[in-house]
Amino acid sequence: PIHQRVSLVDGELKSWDGQCKTVLSPVCVRAASGEVEQVEIGSYPVMGESESDAALDAAVRAYDHGRGEWPTMTVAQRIACMQDFIRQMAARRKEVVNLIMWEIGKSAADSAKEFDRTITYMVQTIDALKDLDNSNSRFVINEHTIGQIRRTPLGVVLCMGPYNYPLNETFATLIPALLMGNTVVFKPPQYGTLLFEPLLDAFRTAFPKGVINTIYAPGAVVVPHMLASGKIDVLALIGSSKVADHLKKQHPKSHRLRAILGLDAKNAAIVLPDADLELTVKECLLGALSFNGQRCTALKMLLVHRSIVEPFLKRFVEELGKLKVGMPWEAGVNITPLPGMHRTAYMTAAIDDAKAKGATVVNESDGGGVFCKTLFYPAVVYPVTEGMMLYREEQFGPLIPVAPFDDLETALDYVITSDHGQQVSIFGQNPEQIGELVDPLVNQVCRVNLNCQCQRGPDTFPFAGRKDSAEGTLSVTDALRCFSIRSMVAAKETDASKA
Ligand code: G3H
Repeated sequence: PIHQRVSLVDGELKSWDGQCKTVLSPVCVRAASGEVEQVEIGSYPVMGESESDAALDAAVRAYDHGRGEWPTMTVAQRIACMQDFIRQMAARRKEVVNLIMWEIGKSAADSAKEFDRTITYMVQTIDALKDLDNSNSRFVINEHTIGQIRRTPLGVVLCMGPYNYPLNETFATLIPALLMGNTVVFKPPQYGTLLFEPLLDAFRTAFPKGVINTIYAPGAVVVPHMLASGKIDVLALIGSSKVADHLKKQHPKSHRLRAILGLDAKNAAIVLPDADLELTVKECLLGALSFNGQRCTALKMLLVHRSIVEPFLKRFVEELGKLKVGMPWEAGVNITPLPGMHRTAYMTAAIDDAKAKGATVVNESDGGGVFCKTLFYPAVVYPVTEGMMLYREEQFGPLIPVAPFDDLETALDYVITSDHGQQVSIFGQNPEQIGELVDPLVNQVCRVNLNCQCQRGPDTFPFAGRKDSAEGTLSVTDALRCFSIRSMVAAKETDASKA
């Protein structure tokens, strides 16, 4: 177990002897008492308002209204600090990957992928920064005015990532924010806190003091308090739409707060009558169930043309039966435990609700005999209709709602009337029919996937959402733009400047 007793504030690892929170892994074991219990893997500090104030004030001082060491450094100097951090981070790979696996129950293979993808993302971001508007200064001459355009930082950023990609999606905002010269306070996700412990000293040594500060606290208490201080310039949150909405309202001058948000989604697959059944089943299965469906990009509703719904369900259930259910360290495992009993309770409630309203679970769901109270064996629910929880709610778990449709307009309508607008997948082979859908859909969501599942990567592609799903675009290059502003120094052209 890791009992973390420090936080990084103002360039120091401050020790903590106050209240702590016990961290339970999603993974269960049978205790000596015979009870099946979630494994205790450590604890971390539960800080209050005065500690979060200290972290925030350190970031404010380090920024110093744009006069601090970090915001005034050259791009090359900031890149050198980041490269130092990457070197140190790479050396802690094994520990971090292991902690991702234990803290959120992600398979060992996917935990390693998350780590490696993050390192690649950081390297790509550095490369993109070197090219961004010629890095930091570009000269323009227009109508006898000469100007130097600069990419300048926004100020103090509060970064919060989600539990499903605790490292990768925290760094998706933290890294570009730092590289653009902002200073940061970051709060690790509730599940996925300890995995940052091996990196704290790398943060401390790679960056000047106060540039990055951590807080460990119940978000509902200290985060609104921090925003209410008016000292945060940017809220960078990958999490829930409801939380984002609430937090944005806490800033005393909401027009001053920039928000970069990755939020809820309810991505649908539209399966047309002529879809390649084998490919569609494979992609929908992966799309719906990778990391137990706990991805914002997961397929959370399968709209299948009524003419093929029967063969589709048959093949889907057959393939589903081949998935391996088990513990995250097992080779080839697909379905692993959920973070806590509140999540399995939600899945059960959504199924009960659908059943009470006329749907059935079309697959066997005994979990292949694996017992762990946080494991939830995937359930295919059919037919899911308007008014059921599963029709509109983001289940964020291993439930696969399937709804039949008769005409394209109905499928299109499902997406158009949704409060979410991240991505959609279309499966079919008739280019004209696909074309009819693509044009209206691409104005409703931010990525239309043809004959493949929804996903964020590659990270050089724009990642965004409309309506309740996002604010801002997060790709390697887009994120650098999000965390900076194009400013300029301008002067009248003179004979001297011409010369
Ligand atoms: O949870 C939301 C993530 O952005 C999903 O990313 O599509 O690469 O798994 P992914």
